Amino acid sequence: MYTLRKKAAQTKARLGTLQTDHGEIQTPIFMPVGTLGSVKAVSQDDLVNKIKAQIILGNTYHLYLRPGNEIMQAAGGLHGFMGWDKPILTDSGGYQIFSLSDIRDLKEKGATFQSHLDGSKHLFTPENVVDTQRILGSDIMMILDECPPWPAEYDYVKESMGLTHRWAKRGREHFLKTDPIYGHKQHQFGIVQGGTYKDLRKESSEFMASLDFEGLAIGGLSVGEPTDIMYEITDFNTDHLPEDKPRYLMGVGTPANLIQCVALGIDMFDCVMPTRNARNGTIFTRNGRVNVRNAKWKHHHKLLDPDFPSDLCRRYNMSYIHHLIKSDEILGLELTSLHNLTFYLWLMEQIREQIKNDTFQEWYPRMMEQVEQRI
Ligand code: GUN
Repeated sequence: MYTLRKKAAQTKARLGTLQTDHGEIQTPIFMPVGTLGSVKAVSQDDLVNKIKAQIILGNTYHLYLRPGNEIMQAAGGLHGFMGWDKPILTDSGGYQIFSLSDIRDLKEKGATFQSHLDGSKHLFTPENVVDTQRILGSDIMMILDECPPWPAEYDYVKESMGLTHRWAKRGREHFLKTDPIYGHKQHQFGIVQGGTYKDLRKESSEFMASLDFEGLAIGGLSVGEPTDIMYEITDFNTDHLPEDKPRYLMGVGTPANLIQCVALGIDMFDCVMPTRNARNGTIFTRNGRVNVRNAKWKHHHKLLDPDFPSDLCRRYNMSYIHHLIKSDEILGLELTSLHNLTFYLWLMEQIREQIKNDTFQEWYPRMMEQVEQRI
């Protein structure tokens, strides 16, 4: 499904395309997060026409608990349910079991957990998360994995990685034995774990590569470790991944993180940051980060960046945006969410252009600095 189009000369940045039955994706790409079948505060039309999203994320844990597989199958899958005909990637739910559910129990067979919604008990296995993602009909599905916290002892991370590997093998076998339900092709990505231990990262990369997934994700990062360690492990990890498969860094990150990790050889990203931070009043721009709740914007009767292609930048003065966010007006959340995602996708487009024009190397350190400023 992946075609490597170009490798940058002085960094590990790559240009590529991902082919799915719901359309082609230009990489490197950022995928807006739509956990529950909705990218919070943003309509499907705006995702396509204003943000230019090429692919969005859904989550198996959340959608399995509500609305549930029966409703999802009757709707013809997540594409039909939410009226979205572009590509969708679904995470397996492994990560959410650990971050959200009340009680969990990890066994060889799978992960037992209690719903954070009503306390009901459920079992996720490597096989049944494939079945659920068949019902969701996602173009790309993730395997069930365990994401260890940071910091974690070597022995714990090694054992956890072993379980993820055995689950990966079962998940891959089940995927290859079962068929899509709705007629379009589905792909499955493995997830490399191993925490911040390089020998484990190498072992996990080689193991996941041996199962011949259509793509490989780097999991277990951005879980509280310092940024320089996240970069160091990402850099090390991409050296051990096959060149002909897309690489997806899960749950990362800030605009500067995306730029740096593209330079380290990453093709795909997702993160709640642009939408979650938008709802707290953080606006990301090409000139840095803005906290619109700050009193200094109260008297700023001007546009933020009139040449930037978002409604927030072109049409509304900052004093008004400050007022909307301070007053918890829904329009405020909509405008900041729409803007931040427009900015993230704009940034990825700039990155692709720079790689195409052989200017990425000179451009990226300056751009990283620029987007990190506070304004
Ligand atoms: N999202 C962010 N990190 C991870 C991870 O390690 N595993 C999964 N499944 N999802 C993630």
